[in-house]
Amino acid sequence: MNDRFLRACRRQAVDRTPLWIMRQAGRYLPEYRELRARHDFLTLCRTPELAVEASLQPLRRFDLDAAIIFSDILIPLEALGCEMSFDPSPRIAKPLKSSSEIEALEARPLTDVAPYVGEAVALLRRELADRVPVIGFAGAPWTLAAYLTEGKGHEGFPAVRALRAADPGALALLLDKLAALVAEHLELQIAAGAQVVQIFDSWAGILSAADFAAFALPAVRRVIGSLRSDVPVIYFAPAASHLLELAATSGASVLGVCWRTPLDAARRKTGGRVALQGNLDPAAMLAPPERVRERALVVLDQAGDEPGHIMNLGHGILPETPIASVEALVAAVAERERRPA
Ligand code: CP3
Repeated sequence: MNDRFLRACRRQAVDRTPLWIMRQAGRYLPEYRELRARHDFLTLCRTPELAVEASLQPLRRFDLDAAIIFSDILIPLEALGCEMSFDPSPRIAKPLKSSSEIEALEARPLTDVAPYVGEAVALLRRELADRVPVIGFAGAPWTLAAYLTEGKGHEGFPAVRALRAADPGALALLLDKLAALVAEHLELQIAAGAQVVQIFDSWAGILSAADFAAFALPAVRRVIGSLRSDVPVIYFAPAASHLLELAATSGASVLGVCWRTPLDAARRKTGGRVALQGNLDPAAMLAPPERVRERALVVLDQAGDEPGHIMNLGHGILPETPIASVEALVAAVAERERRPA
């Protein structure tokens, strides 16, 4: 198997830096848009054959070193009885409004509510036949709490920050319940064959360091600490340069870094305790291929020669990204093959 991604997660030497792209299964691909024209987003997520098709599409085109299961971070919230829709932005039918609603939340087993997630992971493993490892994923408790209270994406997510001020005990209880759900969701994917898992804490950056340390970080630590297997865990909290040192203590073996923090600075701040993933600016992918190459080589230089770097963008690939940019990124990484580790 191509194991350079797994080796880099463990900070072992590699023949070249591994590459995958956040949101690599998605709307920048014409074949994904075709699939989406025939099926709505939730149908793709809930139908293992279709989810696997979306996961495999980028691997047919590009020499990538990992596949990510096609799903969404909000999918496990179904276990809490939460109704959601995507158009394409997520909407939650009844956002949580009170502490009594939080107290009343009871999770049904994910294997009953969303058996298709494990089925899709197992099918993807079979289809890949060990060509590259499979990444499972989940949203972090804090980021899921932000959506559950706000009901939709909203700059700064004021509802969850208001809850923090009004009723910190209720927020802590919500994070506890979500940590258990996220851990179950990751275990389920690992049991089905996921070889790495990534936790997306997309909205951790809206917190002060003190509140991150008091609420979001302990919830992530509980999730990671409860995992029974030793699959590498990637923790990604974008727009959170002020939280980097704290994030490095989450228990994850890899920290995803967004484009705002150069990787050499991230390496210094985290003291080499974790591997790093990232961090080409997704907007740089809108430039001509030669500029994409240059920007990618800068990231590889900033990552340095120490083992423990996974090349990626600093956030999800933008839907308007040209295919030629992805090809230029893949070629730039290949250019550096067999540089001494
Ligand atoms: O290729 C992959 O990375 C696998 C699939 C994946 C999706 N969502 C598919 C998707 C992953 C890993 C996610 C994670 C996700 N979902 C995050 C964390 C990453 C981040 O961006 O910070 C978040 C915050 C969500 C919530 C979400 N789902 C949003 C904000 C949106 C709408 C707009 C957008 O950003 O795409 C979605 C919908 C969604 N999830 C789409 C896809 C391909 C678009 C739906 C469509 O095809 O119409």
